[in-house]
Amino acid sequence: MPVRSVIIGTGAKLPSQVLTNKDLERMVDTSDEWIRTRTGIHQRYIAGEGETNSYLAAEASKEALEMAGIRARDLDLIIVGTMSPDMPMPSVACLVQRELGAEKAGAFDLSATCSGFLYGLSIADKFIKDNQRLKILVVGSEVLSRRVNWKDRGTCVLFGDGAGAAVVAGEKGDRGILSTHLHADGTLWELLTIKALGTAVPLTPEVLEKGWQYIQMQGRDVFRHAVRALEAVAWEALEANGFTGEDVDLLISHQANMRILEHMRERLGLSREKVFINIHKYGNTSAASIPIALDEANRSGILTPGMNLLMVAFGGGFTWGSVAMRW
Ligand code: ACO
Repeated sequence: MPVRSVIIGTGAKLPSQVLTNKDLERMVDTSDEWIRTRTGIHQRYIAGEGETNSYLAAEASKEALEMAGIRARDLDLIIVGTMSPDMPMPSVACLVQRELGAEKAGAFDLSATCSGFLYGLSIADKFIKDNQRLKILVVGSEVLSRRVNWKDRGTCVLFGDGAGAAVVAGEKGDRGILSTHLHADGTLWELLTIKALGTAVPLTPEVLEKGWQYIQMQGRDVFRHAVRALEAVAWEALEANGFTGEDVDLLISHQANMRILEHMRERLGLSREKVFINIHKYGNTSAASIPIALDEANRSGILTPGMNLLMVAFGGGFTWGSVAMRW
């Protein structure tokens, strides 16, 4: 019997404030109708004071640990996918480690934008294949509301805050991760950026004026690449496992745009019930979107043992990837 990486607990945490499309109508030149029809988003959650990235990540992690039935001090590794950490140093993962009291665990952040959770899950899978006794916490957590220009209607309507977490452990048997595939194309980096919060560009008045401290996106181009890459990586995962679209019981894709999800559904030949959708409630929460969806599907009983689950993500960088697993 092979040892596989199994998700033994999931959790999620959303901030307390909801921002609806109607609220946005009062902030920028947009409409509820435009946002719904172009994106599928009805509302998103926005972090308030004290609801930091590490706070959301730690709360989601506590839920995941509780479901897994393991203590924080039994964790060996904490990986946090994020592009909106509390601060450049220390990592969100270290702050989560402290909050949980996971004294034995190594901890690091992973920068792969919206693909961060799947990149993290792939790394956890490799560690567990190396040592099946390891217990690894993988988190996707974002506070993108602090990285959004609230005057730019092309981006501010899209994003939301939140965190999701999963505890991964080794198990002999049929269930668990079947395949992982990671991809990137750095040549297209300029289509989706936050140019000025690293060390390359100083925060001068001119730079602030250009809005380089915020997410800037060539939406139409990103859309085109996202559709293509997500479909390709889904087929790659299916082929690697000898599957066809019919073998997929549930698709959890990064929740970036309802039209992208619908395109995937059609191309893979999936019925509506097989594509998990929660973008209407949360918007695009980047690295948090897949683990939040996973936790919802898990807790609501949509995911049941033995199901073939396909997860796919795409984000800035560009990065994209898939994880196929038997639940
Ligand atoms: N309200 C009203 N009108 C708007 C808004 C808005 N919020 N935003 C843009 N518009 C206008 C534009 O100005 C434009 O007007 P014009 O024709 O007069 O110039 C018109 O609507 C169409 O704009 P487009 O950008 O072409 O609209 P599109 O249909 O492409 O939808 C969107 C934009 C929703 C951003 C889409 O392109 C998209 O979802 N892109 C992909 C996003 C994605 O997948 N991101 C994944 C990674 S995210 C990450 O890594 C952090």
